[in-house]
Amino acid sequence: MSILLETRGLAAGYGALQIIKNIDIRVEHGSFTVVVGPNGAGKTTLMSALAGVLPVAAGEIRLDGQVLNTLSVSQRVKSGLVLVPEGRHLFGQMTVQENLELGGYLMTAAQRRQTMDEVCALFPRLAERRDQAAGSMSGGEQQMVAVGRALMGRPRCILLDEPALGLAPRMVATLFRILRQVAQNGTGVLLVEQNVRQALSICDHAYILEQGLVVAEGSGPELLQGERIRKSYLGL
Ligand SMILES: Nc1ncnc2c1ncn2[C@@H]1O[C@H](COP(=O)(O)OP(=O)(O)OP(=O)(O)O)[C@@H](O)[C@H]1O
Ligand SMILES: [Mg+2]
Repeated sequence: MSILLETRGLAAGYGALQIIKNIDIRVEHGSFTVVVGPNGAGKTTLMSALAGVLPVAAGEIRLDGQVLNTLSVSQRVKSGLVLVPEGRHLFGQMTVQENLELGGYLMTAAQRRQTMDEVCALFPRLAERRDQAAGSMSGGEQQMVAVGRALMGRPRCILLDEPALGLAPRMVATLFRILRQVAQNGTGVLLVEQNVRQALSICDHAYILEQGLVVAEGSGPELLQGERIRKSYLGL
């Protein structure tokens, strides 16, 4: 597989405070890649730097070879890199369908209809609830709307910052299964996650981030069997 998203020596932080240091990660085309790490490890900081919310202090971010470093958030979205941030940020008074349509605002009406059909095929629950106010959906359903809205832009790569936060294990499993499908359909998926066991069980490749540094990487099964994960994350 070829590389879709790549960082080399990426560093970022807040003013003089450097949080992530020298990060090298890769998301291959069609792959489901995960970054796990404890609270405060720098996961959100990494996602913010990738999406262009935070400036790059050092290193490089490339999408399909193109250097993104100096592009704004909206330019990165147009290049095909979209972030689903922590929290859902939906328009609660608007319907599910209206929220989804916002994600496809750059498209023609015909493209938008087709993409809506594809997103609804991934999330049948959203199709059933098209006309419901987004704010009255359950927490898990709202998270699905947020992911669906990002997919409406037909991204090349989707970044998700802890979308499973607060969801029941079954809902988490459903969401991860859908993300697996998204990756198989050709969109690269980079997920930041604290549900270590569930995330590592379903991903293609994972990185462990601690105190702003990648301390281990490998396939899900490799890491699940490794000493570090078993001790620090699974309590075994
Ligand atoms: N706006 C900010 N200004 C200064 N420091 C910040 C800011 N945002 C985050 N930090 C610090 O950066 C470090 C990493 O935070 P970050 O939010 O990236 O962690 P995280 O891995 O996403 O944690 P969590 O799992 O709790 O979401 C923390 O020490 C945090 O206090
Ligand atoms: Mg975070």
